[in-house]
Amino acid sequence: MAKILICYYSRSGNTKKMAYLIQKGVMEEDVEVDTKEVKDVRVDDLKDYDGIIVGSPTYYGGPAAQVKDLLDKSIKYHGKLQDKVGGAFSSSANVGGGNETTVLSILQSLLIHGMVVCGDSSGDHYGPVSIEEPNARAEKNCIRYGKRVAKLTKQLHG
Ligand SMILES: Cc1cc2nc3c(=O)[nH]c(=O)nc-3n(C[C@H](O)[C@H](O)[C@H](O)COP(=O)(O)O)c2cc1C
Repeated sequence: MAKILICYYSRSGNTKKMAYLIQKGVMEEDVEVDTKEVKDVRVDDLKDYDGIIVGSPTYYGGPAAQVKDLLDKSIKYHGKLQDKVGGAFSSSANVGGGNETTVLSILQSLLIHGMVVCGDSSGDHYGPVSIEEPNARAEKNCIRYGKRVAKLTKQLHG
């Protein structure tokens, strides 16, 4: 059975709320999911999942250091994460505050691993974004994203 990791850093809870909304979407597709704070994820865990979705608050237009640290440590498995499904999400304070650049920065690392990234022709194109805590719009897009990533993971690894 396909298994997804949702891994996030969140200082004030907004990105955490997004993580659990994405989890809800994944569960709607009957895919197994672990949702963990980045401090509880060991780099060795990454190889055990078919899909990895990484979330961070937007810090100066990029991911928080805690998230970047895991991404940098993932070099231990360079070449071994190929063809897993990848995804990213972010909460920022402002519209135009850099949430999309944060998502793209995370996705860039996942693409370098050779992971398969899931965009969306409607909803949030690169991955869900929220201004502070998720409102109804962001909630919908988080759940939608969880479902989409879960479906793709099942197709590739189910
Ligand atoms: C160090 C730091 C840098 C930040 N940089 C940005 C930024 O560049 N753009 C922005 O819109 N918000 C920025 N913020 C605000 C956070 O991204 C925003 O409050 C987010 O919702 C926090 O998520 P969290 O509750 O998961 O910690 C920054 C916050 C901190 C603490």
